[in-house]
Amino acid sequence: MVVKKIAVLFSGRGSNLEAILKQVHKKQFTTCSIEVVCLVCNKKDAYGIEIAKRYGLETVIIEHQNFASREAFDKELVQTIKNSGAELSVLAGFMRILTPEFTQNIKAINLHPSLLPLFKGAHAIEESYASFMKVAGISVHFVSDELDGGEIIAQECFQKQDMDIEEFEKKIHALEHELLPKIIIDILDKGMK
Ligand code: GRF
Repeated sequence: MVVKKIAVLFSGRGSNLEAILKQVHKKQFTTCSIEVVCLVCNKKDAYGIEIAKRYGLETVIIEHQNFASREAFDKELVQTIKNSGAELSVLAGFMRILTPEFTQNIKAINLHPSLLPLFKGAHAIEESYASFMKVAGISVHFVSDELDGGEIIAQECFQKQDMDIEEFEKKIHALEHELLPKIIIDILDKGMK
């Protein structure tokens, strides 16, 4: 069976990385199996690095502060991903703004904890919780030159009702852990564009 290779980039806790490792890594689907062949993190103390180790996977640490520019950092990311042979990269809580150096060379999808195009940026959960909207949700989109602005692939939403912020965050993450693995499988196994 064909093995399709993916890269996962993360910066922190790694709960979405864990969902991918549990639900996708080395699993067989209808037309292919999928393998995580490359893990990249820009923070040397990120908990996700420990999670990866539990699955026998080493993470390449590329610290952005060691590079003179965003472009130089992105060049290193691109080189690392290309060397791994991954055909799709998944940004799972990778908290960096990417330049065309990356976006024009790597096919990537990103997970964002709001109903895009609303609440772009690093404070999406707080902002969507505080807004007057009755619903909230999550998005998976292709990565483009515009921050959180690429073509939307899928979204899930829920009624906010009278959730407190902890329940709200829990709901966001529970949806993320289902949707992101599903979309990876849809793209690689089912050929979703
Ligand atoms: C997620 O909420 C994701 O949407 C956002 O960063 C968070 C990462 O969480 N971009 P984790 O590191 O996967 O637990």
